[in-house]
Amino acid sequence: MLIRRTPDIRPSEITGETVYLNRRRFLSTAGVVTAGLIGQGSVMAGLTGDAGATGQVLEGVRQSAFGAGLTPNSWEDITTYNNFYEFGTGKSDPVENAQAFRTRPWQVEVTGYCDKPGTYAYEDVIRDAALEERIYRLRCVEAWSMVIPWVGIPLADILKRFEPNSNAKYVRFRTLFDPEQMPGQRRRVLDWPYVEGLTIAEAMHPLAIMAVGVYGRVLPNQNGAPMRLVVPWKYGFKSIKSINQIEFTDRQPRTSWEMAAPQEYGFYANVNPEVDHPRWSQARERAIGAGLFAPKQETLMFNGYADQVGHLYQGLDLRRNY
Ligand code: MTE
Repeated sequence: MLIRRTPDIRPSEITGETVYLNRRRFLSTAGVVTAGLIGQGSVMAGLTGDAGATGQVLEGVRQSAFGAGLTPNSWEDITTYNNFYEFGTGKSDPVENAQAFRTRPWQVEVTGYCDKPGTYAYEDVIRDAALEERIYRLRCVEAWSMVIPWVGIPLADILKRFEPNSNAKYVRFRTLFDPEQMPGQRRRVLDWPYVEGLTIAEAMHPLAIMAVGVYGRVLPNQNGAPMRLVVPWKYGFKSIKSINQIEFTDRQPRTSWEMAAPQEYGFYANVNPEVDHPRWSQARERAIGAGLFAPKQETLMFNGYADQVGHLYQGLDLRRNY
């Protein structure tokens, strides 16, 4: 992965728990149904008016137990320090270049080993799905991290709608290819479009979600609108943004970063502090928002989700960088 020096986030941008709680209180007093107050919501019920406008408040978001005790980064950190190479390789390029990106109407092509292939409108992909808040750690392979309060839908709930059959051993995801809208695609930084993949067991794991929002609001373009994967036990590059194709396949997909640098980025890409990247250590990480002089924090095995996902990798030699 290209590593470019970027200025650190200012300490003033750190969000403490109180700020987040105040924000949540604000959302609920503003008439927003926040997690836990009212049972299940759905994306369709959650969007009112100009459905899906970036930053619009999502209603009926159910709180989940995921992330209890974690303090999320600020909205500012999460929406201005991004990796989205389709809009440039600098951390602030996505927020600067993605504002005019059109995410409605949006179609998703579903192909491969399933009984319900087809071209679906975004609204149909997520129709009636229960929206949940999941506060997850995000660990980038570049050795920085954040804590993000996503709003999403279990990926399994979405995939099951297409009725994958027994030949579906993997799921391949693809980002939109549109160099007119995505200026980063005019340069061959990667072999566009961006492609990622999971085994079917990983994709069906309850921790994997399709995110449509953050901080109770519609996902900003720079974060991967209208929908992006979040696979919290893997390095961030697996969490592909702005998905417009889902393919059920019997072969391990060749992913963009594997194709770009196979010796550095593997298909599994599970967070593992014991396996260094060929060019840097993965033992510790810089917590974005913690300030310039804060000590780095220890990286956790599977990014802290080992108890939930460790069983998926029995028999896999975790000392290798897959
Ligand atoms: N998806 C696409 N399509 N293009 C990208 O460049 N970057 C990945 C991932 N998904 C990327 C992508 C990387 S390296 C990371 S760390 C995360 O998105 C960052 O997500 P965030 O910007 O929402 O924090």
